[in-house]
Amino acid sequence: MCLFAPYSNQYCNGLVNNIRIFYPPLPLQRGEFIYHLLLPTPAPPKREFIYNLPFTIKKVYYNNILQTIGNTPLVKLNNITKDIPATILAKVEFFNPGNSIKDRMALKMLEVAEQEGRIKPGGTIIECTSGNTGMGLALAAIIKGYKCVFTTTDKQSKEKMDILRAVGAEVHICPTNVEPDDPRSYYSVARRLAAEIPNSLHLNQYDNLANRQAHYETTGPEIWQQTEGKITHLVVATGTGGTITGTAMYLKEKNPNIKVWAIDVFGSLLKKYHETGELDMSQVHAYVTEGIGEDFVPENYDFSLIDKFEQVTDKDGAVMARRIAKEEGIFVGYSAGTALQGIMQLKDELKEGDVVVVVFHDHGSRYIGKIYNDDWMREKGST
Ligand SMILES: Cc1ncc(COP(=O)(O)O)c(C=O)c1O
Repeated sequence: MCLFAPYSNQYCNGLVNNIRIFYPPLPLQRGEFIYHLLLPTPAPPKREFIYNLPFTIKKVYYNNILQTIGNTPLVKLNNITKDIPATILAKVEFFNPGNSIKDRMALKMLEVAEQEGRIKPGGTIIECTSGNTGMGLALAAIIKGYKCVFTTTDKQSKEKMDILRAVGAEVHICPTNVEPDDPRSYYSVARRLAAEIPNSLHLNQYDNLANRQAHYETTGPEIWQQTEGKITHLVVATGTGGTITGTAMYLKEKNPNIKVWAIDVFGSLLKKYHETGELDMSQVHAYVTEGIGEDFVPENYDFSLIDKFEQVTDKDGAVMARRIAKEEGIFVGYSAGTALQGIMQLKDELKEGDVVVVVFHDHGSRYIGKIYNDDWMREKGST
């Protein structure tokens, strides 16, 4: 009798086998449906919350937590950006079950490894992670029956380590300020563990192209649908390059005129590499912003898709994250502040009619002891 277009397409597929799926132009809230009664006479679509629907839905649950990944909301920023003539929309990724965008690529990397027979039942997943990829992998491992061993650096928030252990992962903390090929680095320790632990697989989010593929298949199409194809700029704070490359690849296929801006942190070599092709290690110095910037170039990058790199200081990113929490009511992580600060630095390049989508990668609760702690901010000279 009907078709539904619920908030999530996984949800929708579960609900309505063999019925046409209708993606409405309107942004829906969770639990809200557009339904369309096809019989007895065609009628215009109606919009209603699940508890008010005039019919019963057979199945109103997801089969497991992994099915809730993706289909995150796009939210207009109204206050911080009020002097920018463009519309600024945040893709709020902490709505994912692991509270970050990295759930998307964690699941994809694991699914591809399974399809290729690179991991066997009961095996161990090994990964270097600043925390968010680890969380996504840990959730997927629980559902799929794997163990997780993660390496991370001593600059990451304690909250992130505690969270990983809370979901059953073993975490090895390695020094930050060593070269990537130093045996103590978190990359080298992950490689060593993968060699030592039987039936284990080092997923390697930096060079594993399933990372960017996840964003090509999900983040890009969602943004295209949610803006009804009106997006003019994509802005992403960037680390492995998976989010920016995969999302940009999809969006530029749809409209090659979309501008893609990467936001980097001072202390990373990515901006200079993009501009000159030179791996200039003199650019590299310690910074405290988490999840972004690199001291090498991961294979997930396709720099030809990136139109511009902008660098932001640790302090400006942190102050902006705190403003987003207080002025927009969106409790975001550090790199969201960096990304929005990048837009503020480039705001003179935006004009009326532009539709800018900025990715907010994760949730502020991971940074309570850092950017949301006044003592920490004072200690870092960021107040
Ligand atoms: C908080 C945060 N922001 C930004 C990024 C960068 O995303 P990507 O690695 O896809 O470039 C990450 C990656 O781990 C992250 O955890």
